[in-house]
Amino acid sequence: MSYLVEMQSIHKSFPGVKVLDNVQFQLEQGEVHALMGENGAGKSTLMKILGGVYTKDSGNVKVKGQEVQFTNTTESMNHGIAFIHQELSLIPYLTVTENMFLGRELTYRGTGIIRWKEMKERTIQALSRLGMTIDPNQVTGNLSIGQQQMIEIARALSMNADCLIMDEPTASLTGREIENLFRVVRELKKSGVGMVYISHRMEEIFEICDRITVLRDGQYIGTESTKETTMEKLVQMMVGREMGERYPPRQHVVGGECLKVEKLNRAGVLNDISFTVHQGEILGIAGLMGAGRTEMVRAIFGIDPYETATFTMNGNPIKIKRPRDAIQHGIALVTEDRKDEGLILELSVRENMTMVNLDSHARLGVISKEKEITFVHENVKKLNVKTASIETLVRFLSGGNQQKIVIGKWLGIAPKVLILDEPTRGVDIGAKKEIYQIMNELTEQGVAIIMISSELPEVLGMSDRILVMKEGKITGEFTHAEADQEKIMMAATGGI
Ligand SMILES: Nc1ncnc2c1ncn2[C@@H]1O[C@H](COP(=O)(O)OP(=O)(O)OP(=O)(O)O)[C@@H](O)[C@H]1O
Ligand SMILES: [Mg+2]
Repeated sequence: MSYLVEMQSIHKSFPGVKVLDNVQFQLEQGEVHALMGENGAGKSTLMKILGGVYTKDSGNVKVKGQEVQFTNTTESMNHGIAFIHQELSLIPYLTVTENMFLGRELTYRGTGIIRWKEMKERTIQALSRLGMTIDPNQVTGNLSIGQQQMIEIARALSMNADCLIMDEPTASLTGREIENLFRVVRELKKSGVGMVYISHRMEEIFEICDRITVLRDGQYIGTESTKETTMEKLVQMMVGREMGERYPPRQHVVGGECLKVEKLNRAGVLNDISFTVHQGEILGIAGLMGAGRTEMVRAIFGIDPYETATFTMNGNPIKIKRPRDAIQHGIALVTEDRKDEGLILELSVRENMTMVNLDSHARLGVISKEKEITFVHENVKKLNVKTASIETLVRFLSGGNQQKIVIGKWLGIAPKVLILDEPTRGVDIGAKKEIYQIMNELTEQGVAIIMISSELPEVLGMSDRILVMKEGKITGEFTHAEADQEKIMMAATGGI
């Protein structure tokens, strides 16, 4: 029997970096095959070769037994391969329908006239298969990243491919959306579709995948069957050593009241939100996509408007109308939408990392280049950022390494309240632990941390206290000791 996809002895270099060094990969029909490895290991690059985005330097690729040489994405699509990219590829000013059918619009035969009605209907159908109801006439840029991610998935599904590549499809999805995706994955599996699944979330890999191939530094390490392997084994294959506990032990003590938010309201978005975060506390915020978590912290940080709210910092009333007010009162926000808000892709690693905290490297307003460089080197090392140099443009880094830069840039400032929106999304297991350690260190110094996360194990593992949101409201509050996955899901869904 021939494989659905077979890749052998694949080599790929970019100027100055060897990215894939003799890699092999086989995908069977009806198989969900995970590709794992640290940030920068070469996972996306390998799949981009299969997807016709990049051409390999050497090696061979067979699809259904036939040797192929893709030089563009259309050729790959014509061989039945659909690709859900790590970086969303939707065009923000087009509507949902336009994005769904971009480059493959339905027309009346021989006329070039577009069959809008049918395209809209098919869009609605494709989305409803994933349990989504989104207006097909909406401009995509107005939707949340989670919704955009679902459209991206729906688009790939609507191509009826034999092989579906999913590069971190769930990075911005939560609970129910992931369940819907997994339901569809299981259906596709039954009809013989082969799927490649890239993710840094162990739980998902064990839930949905049959086999796992691990890459490390561009090299093939091995392929395991999910049934016969363990998380520890995989981690060791990925990082080349034992990792120990996933969540580092906490030494911090929760202190007095730090930021108090009372009656935060915004019609249709936020409903009477009141809570307090204490010095040295990690307050986890759980909830499903669209629960209003990001909207809440955006309002607290002064980005989005609100109708009513009172804020108190260390017992003193404060006013927050703009981000500048929040920053002045010692509040920092690491946003979830990093490509848009967190990073400038055309600047270097060094420039991006030192953007927010130039002050702390400056004496009498003069920035010491030396200090700046030391700070960047330390951060790159601490977070194990894979980059050719600190002067490399961020655009050339892998997805996860870009995230590490955004986190890194906040480490130089010492806020009173640090708000992290999905801090470890797309980040590999080693860097996750490093981020957790940094969070623990900050709390030991008395920093209050508010962490939004859609990874329940992470919320449970890291938080001193957990708030759950649903439809713009706080629907649950649990201490570290009380909380478990079920209670959180009940509060997040209203109990189904
Ligand atoms: N167009 C490019 N030019 C230069 N270097 C590149 C380019 N694309 C990728 N790289 C480099 O290739 C390496 C592998 O990147 P790749 O995106 O395949 O990693 P990945 O395993 O998908 O990581 P992640 O988990 O962070 O998404 C990285 O070091 C990255 O910087
Ligand atoms: Mg990648």
